[in-house]
Amino acid sequence: MNRGLFICLRGKDALRKPHQFVRYGSIRQYMKSKSENEIKRFIEENTEIVKGQSLTPEISLRLFTVKCRFWTERPEFWPFPDPFWAIYWPGGQALTRYLLNNPELSVGRRVLDLGCGCGASAIAAKLSGAAHVVANDIDPIAAIATKMNCELNGLEPLPCVTENLISSEPENWDLILLGDMFYDETLTDSLHKWLYKCVKLYRTQIFIGDPGRAQFESCDIKTLLYEQARFELPDSVREENYGLTSSTVWCYRPEY
Ligand SMILES: C[S@@+](CC[C@H](N)C(=O)[O-])C[C@H]1O[C@@H](n2cnc3c(N)ncnc32)[C@H](O)[C@@H]1O
Repeated sequence: MNRGLFICLRGKDALRKPHQFVRYGSIRQYMKSKSENEIKRFIEENTEIVKGQSLTPEISLRLFTVKCRFWTERPEFWPFPDPFWAIYWPGGQALTRYLLNNPELSVGRRVLDLGCGCGASAIAAKLSGAAHVVANDIDPIAAIATKMNCELNGLEPLPCVTENLISSEPENWDLILLGDMFYDETLTDSLHKWLYKCVKLYRTQIFIGDPGRAQFESCDIKTLLYEQARFELPDSVREENYGLTSSTVWCYRPEY
């Protein structure tokens, strides 16, 4: 079977440098020529609504599956950057499960889901009673997919921002969520510096979900993390993620 785009995203080299068939500059150009409704239609036509095959069966998401055209279509015909938002990553799954299991972490709080992808963790924070949730992803298609996924779960679309927040001064968030964000060395370093500032300036609480990727295990931040919960991945998630068997939620607590 030719799993085209899917294999590019999840294969051995997945989550290193993005392969990006289309770069973010050109995606913004592309988006100018399409209405949001046209992009939504594209997402609807090229994803499947999935529920029950993850650590959070109570959340429905539009994802890329074997039934989608691009499972077999040549990946270079995909018109956007790599659709990380069309996969529910194991790090995000653990983080989202943890939030749903512990609603007190979200209740009444201001929450940022950084690198939201499909938006599952942001959705869980809102469903758990957060006062204000912002989803952030530098991929503008992820922002649209997140809004669609909010609606699937009976929520008003959450505010989604597409700026690269880690290159700007942090805001005063109570809680920042990062699901499967430690997959690239440069990104990991920038994230660490920015997260340190968030904690130092605002004592922001930070939770990270990661399935033990090599880039994560070897990064400096790892020594400042405290394990909160570990989840065994369902069989279907293991099969799709080449050898990963569990996913862990960590709290970042640097000394300052
Ligand atoms: C592996 S996916 C994880 C998505 C989601 N958190 C999950 O666990 O399912 C990483 C996401 O981070 C986004 N991303 C990468 N660099 C980013 C940055 N500097 N700021 C915000 N999002 C970023 C990517 O576009 C992608 O959607």
